[in-house]
Parts: sequence; C-alpha cells; structure tokens
Amino acid sequence: MGNVNIYQGKVLVAGATGKTGQWVVKRLMHYGVAVRVLARDREKALALFGKEVEIMTGKIQSDSDVAHAVAGCRAVISTLGSNSVTGESSPGEVDRDGVIRLVDEAAKAGVQHLGLISSLAVTKWYHPLNLFAGVLTKKWAAEEHVRAVFAKEGRSYTIVRPGGLKDGEPLLHKLHVDTGDRLWNGFINRADVAELLVLSLWLNNAKNKTFEVVNESEEPQTDLGKYYDALPE
Ligand SMILES: NC(=O)c1ccc[n+]([C@@H]2O[C@H](COP(=O)([O-])OP(=O)(O)OC[C@H]3O[C@@H](n4cnc5c(N)ncnc54)[C@H](OP(=O)(O)O)[C@@H]3O)[C@@H](O)[C@H]2O)c1
Repeated sequence: MGNVNIYQGKVLVAGATGKTGQWVVKRLMHYGVAVRVLARDREKALALFGKEVEIMTGKIQSDSDVAHAVAGCRAVISTLGSNSVTGESSPGEVDRDGVIRLVDEAAKAGVQHLGLISSLAVTKWYHPLNLFAGVLTKKWAAEEHVRAVFAKEGRSYTIVRPGGLKDGEPLLHKLHVDTGDRLWNGFINRADVAELLVLSLWLNNAKNKTFEVVNESEEPQTDLGKYYDALPE
C-alpha cells in the first residue's frame, strides 16, 4: 500500500512504456499518485499497466495529441528518449522537439511542475555520444527550453542528468550528486532516477534544479530526498 495523498493531482508520464518510464509509473503508484500515460502504442501500455493507469494514445509529434494528454494534469514527467538516428524516433524528433512540444503544451495547460530526464555530459558538444545524431545537443536544447518556460511564477522544473542507466530495484545505492556537468563517468539504476523525478513533485529543494547523479556505492537507502538537500547552490 502506498502513501496515499502525498501529492494531490494527476501526473502525466511521457515515455512511460520505456524502461525508466515504467519505474516512474511504479513509484508514482507506490506513493498513491494519480497517473496518466501518453503512449504511442496503446497495446504496449495496456500490457504493462493494465487498467490501473489512465492511458492516452498519441504521437509526441502532434500538438493536439500532446495538448489532450497534458490537459488537467498538475505535473508532467518526461522519460522520452530517442532510439534511432533518423525518423520519428530520432534525437531531433524526440529528445528535442518532442520534449519542447510537451513543455509548451504543458505550460499552456497550466501544468505546475515538469520533471525531465536528460543526461550526464549534456553540455559537452564534443562528447562521443553526440555521434548518435547529436543526441546530447538535442537534449541540451530541450533542457534550455524547460528552464526558460518553467522557471516562472507558479511553475517549477527538475532536470535529472543521470550517468549510464542500469536495471534493478530502487534505493540500493548511495548516490553522488553534482551540478555544472563536471562528472564524466558513472552509472545509476533507472529506478533511482525515477524515484528522484517522483520526489521532485513535492520536495521544495528539488524545484528549479538541474543536476547530475551517479552511484557512489552499494548501500541501502531509505529516502533519496536527502540528495536534493545536498545539491550545491
Ligand atoms: N541508456 C543510458 O545509459 C542513458 C544515460 C543517460 C540518459 N539516458 C536517457 O534516459 C532516458 C530514458 O532512458 P531509457 O533507457 O528508459 O529509454 P527507453 O527504454 O528507450 O524509453 C524511451 C521512451 O521514449 C519513447 N519514445 C521513443 N521514440 C518515441 C516517439 N517517436 N514517440 C513517442 N515516444 C517515443 C519510447 O516509447 P516506446 O515504448 O513506444 O518505444 C519509450 O517510452 C532517455 O532520454 C535516454 O536518452 C540514457
């Protein structure tokens, strides 16, 4: 049984059928938060979540689909990520334009908080990851848009820049957080990234923060909220 009523209002998860997105949905449900997912493949979403979450089918390329998905939500969490160099799942279409569309429609709809998964090294144009269709520069453009639109009166954002993503349960590692994109290496469980994004909904110290995060050591944790308190100003 989750902690009921810790966060009032519905949260839209974009990219929910992805590996990190599934963890975001799980952790939202753990805390008893109402969830809606935007999925391009309804069958995939149904197979993963059943009838427990509200599913909206739509394309991240469509203004009207995205507007429909964000309507009535208090917050949006994006775990979208490209998986092809060209076409509709490319970094330009998903990591940049898809996220920018989500941000704009969310702001128009009165969404109060936006959580985004980005990446370590996102500011480094010369990083080898940019050989994948400039994925880091596309994510950087999306980040900048989030900061420009959501650092406004009545809105907030949290951008998590993880190291290499791994599968596994949440709360199994002591984490290391930093700001300024100074970390080059490291891994983190997708489940912990999801937990940090979910906590950002209600923790004041998470508001309007952009930060990097990787595992420090194996050490069970009871609460990841303390890492927001540890962020350099
Ligand atoms: N892998 C790493 O080590 C690493 C490190 C740092 C940051 N990241 C970033 O972390 C994020 C999450 O990673 P992950 O491993 O959880 O990714 P993932 O499992 O590949 O999930 C990506 C999600 O994006 C959705 N998506 C892709 N193309 C789409 C499109 N054209 N329209 C709508 N949705 C689309 C996928 O939808 P479907 O389910 O329908 O395919 C899926 O829900 C990504 O942004 C990734 O770049 C990854």
